[in-house]
Amino acid sequence: MTAPLCFHYEIDGENFTSAGEASVKVKKSLRQLGFPPEIIRKVAIAMYEGEINMVIHANGGYAEVTVYPDHIEIVLCDHGPGIADVDLAMQAGYSTAPERIRALGFGAGMGLPNMKANTDSMVIDTKIGVGTKITMTVNM
Ligand SMILES: Nc1ncnc2c1ncn2[C@@H]1O[C@H](COP(=O)(O)OP(=O)(O)OP(=O)(O)O)[C@@H](O)[C@H]1O
Ligand SMILES: [Mg+2]
Repeated sequence: MTAPLCFHYEIDGENFTSAGEASVKVKKSLRQLGFPPEIIRKVAIAMYEGEINMVIHANGGYAEVTVYPDHIEIVLCDHGPGIADVDLAMQAGYSTAPERIRALGFGAGMGLPNMKANTDSMVIDTKIGVGTKITMTVNM
């Protein structure tokens, strides 16, 4: 049996210019591998939102995308402040983004709901002061 394909990306927490680049790279790689556009679209949206969240809320982290025979797994891991109330954070429109972040066009409180809507499973493992790990899957 061959090992699953795995892509690893470091997400720079300081850099808004490069924010979103990892999801663009994933999109290109999955395209080259010949995945259906609908699958690629879901993975790219979920990953983009998670990546931006790591930049604006958690000072960066890493992303790992693994291609299994029947699904794609996206893991996003950071050592940011953690999420105090996950149910609240999951609500559409809920955001703690400060004004300077909103001025950049973020902070609608739609990222996490979008991640949920575009994946087949999403698990948030988070601890205040330690960080957040989000594991999502998109089925083939
Ligand atoms: N990785 C993270 N670390 C800490 N807090 C997070 C993280 N991701 C999300 N949050 C918290 O959950 C809230 C909701 O996240 P969500 O992505 O839905 O909205 P947003 O990032 O504030 O705005 P938008 O995604 O629409 O630009 C955030 O405002 C933040 O408080
Ligand atoms: Mg967001």
